[in-house]
Amino acid sequence: MIIDPNKQSFGENHKLMIGSIVPRPIALVSTVSSDAKNNLAPFSYFNGICSNPPTVMFAPGRRGYDGLTKDTLNNIRETEQFVINIVSNEIGEKMVTCATDFPSDVDEFEISGLTPKRSVKVEPPLVSESKVGFECELNQIVEIGEGGPGAGFVVIGTIIMFHIDDDVYNDGRIDIEELKPIGRLAGNSYSHIRDTFEIIRKVHID
Ligand SMILES: Cc1cc2nc3c(=O)[nH]c(=O)nc-3n(C[C@H](O)[C@H](O)[C@H](O)COP(=O)(O)O)c2cc1C
Repeated sequence: MIIDPNKQSFGENHKLMIGSIVPRPIALVSTVSSDAKNNLAPFSYFNGICSNPPTVMFAPGRRGYDGLTKDTLNNIRETEQFVINIVSNEIGEKMVTCATDFPSDVDEFEISGLTPKRSVKVEPPLVSESKVGFECELNQIVEIGEGGPGAGFVVIGTIIMFHIDDDVYNDGRIDIEELKPIGRLAGNSYSHIRDTFEIIRKVHID
């Protein structure tokens, strides 16, 4: 089967993408509005870009039903700061309660019961229950598409402070057995990392 994305709706394209790009890491992103309201929301179009400087991206789309931009993006445009909190098993349910489309003055820390913890260099708080957090400052926002529902943005940020729980930090590396990150699949499905294996790579030609 071949499918031309221009011959079906963005919703149909969306289903093919979220079912194929799996599992996706989840960034629980905290931001603060210009009137000092906390906001917390998950984004699974999320990844690293490079490590010099340490740079990450995530993609807050326009709302599928009215094309409006999400609070997270609006806050980052105003403040140029955000915190990425990595989602472990233990906070999966609470993370999902932050994904409801609440009015912008609702603080999802209060809704979810997750605990805000003061960051060192930025205003948005860390999620205390998250085992890894990145304080980020905005590098740039790239707009994608024509501005309708399903279009979106790529938010690129520089990590200016790492927060890593002692139990997941092992000699400069992250212990995945302790981190227990969950991955996003299509719809309401998630994955655990329980079955890992190695494939040895030859870096140089002998
Ligand atoms: C696990 C998970 C991952 C999500 N990933 C994205 C994403 O990558 N991009 C996006 O626009 N929305 C994503 N959402 C939906 C947003 O979290 C949701 O629209 C939220 O209400 C946005 O909040 P905000 O308006 O406070 O920014 C995701 C939801 C869940 C539960």
